[in-house]
Amino acid sequence: QPTFQVAIIGFGTVGEGVYRTLERKAKKIEALLGRSLHIPFVLVKSVEKDRDVLPVTKVTNRLEDLLEYDRLDVVVEASPDAETAYPFVTELLRRGVSVISANKELMAKYGEELHQLATDHRCHLLYEAAVAGGIPLLNTIRHTLKTNTVDRLEGILNGTSNFMLTKMREEGASFPQALREAQEKGYAEAVPDKDVDGWDAYFKTTILSHWIYGKAPVWKGEPKGIRHVTVEDISLANQLNGRIKHVASLVKVGDNVEASVEPCLVLNDHLLYGVEGVNNGIHIEGSIVGSVMLQGPGAGKYPTASAIVEDLVNLLLRKDEKVEEQGIEFVEHGFSEKVLDD
Ligand code: HSE
Repeated sequence: QPTFQVAIIGFGTVGEGVYRTLERKAKKIEALLGRSLHIPFVLVKSVEKDRDVLPVTKVTNRLEDLLEYDRLDVVVEASPDAETAYPFVTELLRRGVSVISANKELMAKYGEELHQLATDHRCHLLYEAAVAGGIPLLNTIRHTLKTNTVDRLEGILNGTSNFMLTKMREEGASFPQALREAQEKGYAEAVPDKDVDGWDAYFKTTILSHWIYGKAPVWKGEPKGIRHVTVEDISLANQLNGRIKHVASLVKVGDNVEASVEPCLVLNDHLLYGVEGVNNGIHIEGSIVGSVMLQGPGAGKYPTASAIVEDLVNLLLRKDEKVEEQGIEFVEHGFSEKVLDD
């Protein structure tokens, strides 16, 4: 059996996390897939830096190396923002190469176009890692909440903000101290303003709206982040038996979906109250199941790598089963699918 060939774009926290996980789990992955997995390229901005990769992996800054190779099964995309990723991802999809992305900004801004490209060129585009880090959220919604209507979703979707709010409350850390620690731990985005000003949660909420309802939400005002939350706000919340949490919400109102992203006072009987540190928590109201709560690490090297590697293995399994020849999966992962209501 030939090996599967996978390239990685970006070798920051996420890209390196994927590389190490594929190394560490090589045996298990081979057992699952019946073939071994080979990483011929890592694409980075600067090839000057010393990267700890196996000799079989070429570190390059030329996308052409990947395109000319012509034997790639999948590319994992872990670049820092939408504008860096867009030309790479569009070019790969146009050539029929499947992409797994961790890039919420890319998917929120260009998701519809990218899905159309993937469909037109008969390849896959998966991005479980783009929303809520390691929590299996998108796949859970798509595969096990199909018949339910999601009436409402409320979540803590930015691990950095939740980590910072927890540090500020538990240790009296200042905003800059808490942010520095989140950056050191590899939770924050390359530009951390996106985390603390609400944009990261805004991108994730946009993706969820498309994923669940097949369309963009109507925003109740600009997204708000935690930049202006003070230690005094946090201690006042404490006195009220509550906590300040950065909450994203999606509510189905008739044919519309309303969204908001903002810091909120969450009382101690609320499901999001106990979601602490870098964890994300997502509370979903399904029309059949009722209230469901998912919780887990929302950022970080290995939680994010976990979501990517699971997407990768699932994709390669389906590739081998030749499901794509029946044209099934192109419908399964659409961004703006027609949503059937009750
Ligand atoms: N910066 C993001 C966060 C990473 O803190 O949630 C995971 O998407």
